[in-house]
Amino acid sequence: MEKAQYTITAALPYANGPLHLGHVAGVYLPADIFVRFLRHKGHDVAFICGSDEHGAAITLRAKKEGISPQEIVDKYHSVLKKAFEDFSISFDIFHRTSTPIHHQTAQDFFKKLNEEGKFIEQRSEQYYDEEFQQFLADRYITGECPKCGYEHAYGDQCEKCGTALSPLELINPKSTLSGATPILKETSHWYLPMDQHEEWLKSWIKEGTLDGKMHHDVSKWRNQVVGQCMSWIDGGLKPRAMTRDLDWGVPVPVENAEGKVLYVWLDAPIGYISATKQWAIDNGKNWGEYWKGDRKLVHFIGKDNIVFHAIIFPILLKAHGDFVLPDNVPASEFLNLEGDKFSTSRNWAVWLHEYLERYPDKVDELKYTLTAIAPESKDSEFTWLEYQARVNNELADVLGNFINRALVLAQKYYNGKLPQLGELTDLDEHILEQMGQIRPKVEELLYKYKIREAQSEVMNLARLGNKYLADTEPWKAVKTDEKRVETIMHIALQITASLGILLDPFLPTSASKIRDFISLKNFDWDKAGTMEVLDENNLLKKPTILFQKIEDEMVKKEQDLLFATKQEANIEQEITFQPQKEEISFDHFMGCDIRVGTILEAQKVKKADKLLQLIVDTGLDKRTIVSGIAEHYAPEDIIGKKVTVLMNLAPRKIRGIESQGMILMAENAEGKLSFVSPEKEVNAGSEVR
Ligand code: 2FM
Ligand code: ZN
Repeated sequence: MEKAQYTITAALPYANGPLHLGHVAGVYLPADIFVRFLRHKGHDVAFICGSDEHGAAITLRAKKEGISPQEIVDKYHSVLKKAFEDFSISFDIFHRTSTPIHHQTAQDFFKKLNEEGKFIEQRSEQYYDEEFQQFLADRYITGECPKCGYEHAYGDQCEKCGTALSPLELINPKSTLSGATPILKETSHWYLPMDQHEEWLKSWIKEGTLDGKMHHDVSKWRNQVVGQCMSWIDGGLKPRAMTRDLDWGVPVPVENAEGKVLYVWLDAPIGYISATKQWAIDNGKNWGEYWKGDRKLVHFIGKDNIVFHAIIFPILLKAHGDFVLPDNVPASEFLNLEGDKFSTSRNWAVWLHEYLERYPDKVDELKYTLTAIAPESKDSEFTWLEYQARVNNELADVLGNFINRALVLAQKYYNGKLPQLGELTDLDEHILEQMGQIRPKVEELLYKYKIREAQSEVMNLARLGNKYLADTEPWKAVKTDEKRVETIMHIALQITASLGILLDPFLPTSASKIRDFISLKNFDWDKAGTMEVLDENNLLKKPTILFQKIEDEMVKKEQDLLFATKQEANIEQEITFQPQKEEISFDHFMGCDIRVGTILEAQKVKKADKLLQLIVDTGLDKRTIVSGIAEHYAPEDIIGKKVTVLMNLAPRKIRGIESQGMILMAENAEGKLSFVSPEKEVNAGSEVR
């Protein structure tokens, strides 16, 4: 039978920031494992990714950093690309949507659909920010989600409940640019009539059929993906605008459409196609083969991207007519971090590039942990303690320990030569049988996108090896039965070799080290689990330690780092400035008599922790003022200080002392108080206006 051919895509990350572990665990790592496996199985595969360089995510970031959108995407494209390389994610291409080939591809795609009447052009009123003179779509507008009540839903999607929205559905909408309530203004856009596609989508998603024929195996689709799609379709699909009034993006390729660009969620998935084109040009391939015919197209994504990949893009692909539809859309749930959601804005994240800078030699340790806790079917959580436990108890104690034992004994007893397999005991037969079952199980799981279980199955082989050595105790048997030990060690070394193969998709660096230890040059996936991986030509070398244990200090350091950012973020969050007070007249202001005073004396007020009793020279007089600053200033430190005094505040008694005025203080978000003092030398009594 012909081997299935695959085009695998991983969601194009927005080039507006770095990657965190949530992105990696949910999308890029599982995609990479799957692809490495397919390559080993001999499937023809193209593994496509790139950065998503359009849309409000980019322009808003540019505004925040005070640089142009082009500078933003240039900056983050490099950051993303490097992190993927350093983490050994084996894309065939990591492309960009700001390239001419992408613009051309996206425009051609749009043009064909438009000319064939697949869009509806419509005038309508849309929200508009008068101050910034801009229409507000997507992330430019926020408001309350009509479905779940979340207050910060975006104009295109509620990130809380996943509902796709249009700005007009938001309750109490606000412009992200000015914060103002927008006005309505007329504009025209091209809409995709999604409602016209409900029928075929239903049977495609539910039964996996297309045009009455079997298209894909629905049993391999994750429940949450089918569930989310069906709830969308059952809720009734609505026409959705495929263009935007913006100056950053792919220009709409139609006359008189100045100032309009393609909707980023139209252009981004087409980015998979343009990236394939570029890769084909670079490698002498025919790109069309990767998007047509019998290809299996698979999109690895996070759950917030389901609707775009399992409904909107398939509609576009089908409407276009020249392309295959996805065979599967393995979407992951979310990964949390130490009890809280990953959050870029709150900097509650472990950033991939920072981890790699700190621990460049711990790539596989992170891969292993992230796969072991991958949020495949439900949300899961990364903690540094679990990272430590996974590395120490599983990678070091099980896998590393087994490989090390087997190879050290091979050195000691046989000088690095493979001993002969002799007569098999019942136990040996049993071990061989179990060994033989692992590869097919791993394959079955991987073909079903159960990557987490597949990794655990491979680890079972290391567990089996450990147990086998513990049960047979070759270090004892060697004293009495050398022949028996040769057989035991032969089996243990074949297990080692099989691990060097089966681990490769998951832990490529360590697997390659293992293969190097046993001089295994010919990589044959299908031999894994048999007694034919090693023969007498394989020189067995002295091993090095595969995984160092993670010390408590590292865990503590990482936790401290994370919690310190949380404190900072909390402080920043608290800086919610009070709204401006009601307007007052000039006369009203002039009614306040504010002058510079010099503190002449200061003493604590008895039984009042917060109060100081001051004598202040106001130019006009020397008066007593009681001020709540005792926790911020020591009396002896403030003698002679110039401060601002509100003179004509009605006198009042505080703790029996009459206070004649008020010292004005600046207060920050943490409640810290500071005098408001003149910047130049001025006399006491100078008026403040
Ligand atoms: O959610 C995101 O980060 C998007 N940039 C994903 C795009 S995936 C594809 F359509 F390009
Ligand atoms: Zn919602």
